[in-house]
Amino acid sequence: MNFLIAFVLVATAAAAHCVPINQASPTENQIKELTAATLLFFHSALPNTSFAPLPSFVNERLRIPEIDTDVTTTGKNGMAYGINQVLLSQYEFDASTLATKFSLTSLNFTRVYDIEVEGKLFGHKVSGEGVLRQEVLGEGYYVSNLRFEEINHSLQIASLELNLLMDDVIVDVEGVTVDGCSVQQLEKLMEDYVLTKFNESREEQSKLIAGIMKSQFNKSWAGYSTDEVIQWLRDNSNGSGQMDFIQKHINSLARVL
Ligand SMILES: *[C@@H]1O[C@H](CO)[C@@H](O)[C@H](O)[C@H]1NC(C)=O
Ligand SMILES: *[C@@H]1O[C@H](CO)[C@@H](O)[C@H](O)[C@H]1NC(C)=O
Ligand SMILES: *[C@@H]1O[C@H](CO)[C@@H](O)[C@H](O)[C@H]1NC(C)=O
Ligand SMILES: *[C@@H]1O[C@H](CO)[C@@H](O)[C@H](O)[C@H]1NC(C)=O
Ligand SMILES: *[C@@H]1O[C@H](CO)[C@@H](O)[C@H](O)[C@H]1NC(C)=O
Ligand SMILES: *[C@@H]1O[C@H](CO)[C@@H](O)[C@H](O)[C@H]1NC(C)=O
Repeated sequence: MNFLIAFVLVATAAAAHCVPINQASPTENQIKELTAATLLFFHSALPNTSFAPLPSFVNERLRIPEIDTDVTTTGKNGMAYGINQVLLSQYEFDASTLATKFSLTSLNFTRVYDIEVEGKLFGHKVSGEGVLRQEVLGEGYYVSNLRFEEINHSLQIASLELNLLMDDVIVDVEGVTVDGCSVQQLEKLMEDYVLTKFNESREEQSKLIAGIMKSQFNKSWAGYSTDEVIQWLRDNSNGSGQMDFIQKHINSLARVL
């Protein structure tokens, strides 16, 4: 699951602490306020630094027979960069349908590890110690047809469509010995593999994540009116949730390929 989605899910789950009062259905104005409050909240909850250490992993085996890959990797001194560089764009609110669109992407999410590798990657024998660096550019999602409703005094998502995005992946390997091809060729194989896999699973994953988001939002907001959600977001936009969010999902970023 990508960084931003994990982030949004954890942030949303936090919204379950509101106090219940009854209220009417969301109006155009309320939706605008909700959007503004959500942005403020996300902004405050983003890490206040652009980098964070990643957990080490030892002798982790990656086996993918379809691409003739079976390697064991140890990664140390891991660091993630660009963790707070998030771009909200293509925002549009349609007052006639009360539908919102936007895209949320991380500009350049980079992972760097000191690695020790032994085995076979794309049929090529690899071994040695070196540095692995992976940049993921423009990863995130585009949300459209996002509409809200209030059912039984609970703010719920009435509809949501989501498309996962990823512009490019850049892999850089240094210091590792490769048989039968250059390091550059190996990097290219890894980049193409990640992009192809992303393309292949994009539609299904987009639907899956849209479903998770919907039910997670719905669950978090059950029993809480639109105005209460707005108030909660405003009251909690002081950054108090920050470390919590980041620590919770940073561990899931250790996986390299
Ligand atoms: C970042 O936030 C954490 C927790 O909120 C705080 O302990 C730390 O001092 C902050 N760092 C900077 C550079 O503001
Ligand atoms: C992405 O970020 C890393 C780490 O800050 C940097 O070294 C790299 O040049 C950036 N890549 C691009 C394409 O901007
Ligand atoms: C609203 O609440 C009533 C009474 O608790 C319940 O019967 C009804 O199914 C609820 N409606 C929805 C859409 O959840
Ligand atoms: C919102 O979530 C609740 C609980 O998971 C579910 O009953 C309801 O159908 C959901 N609404 C939409 C529009 O998905
Ligand atoms: C992924 O799909 C996009 C458009 O759907 C296409 O432009 C791109 O070449 C594809 N990339 C790979 C690696 O399959
Ligand atoms: C942020 O606001 C919440 C709720 O009002 C409060 O409990 C918390 O102490 C505040 N945290 C900071 C760091 O100001």
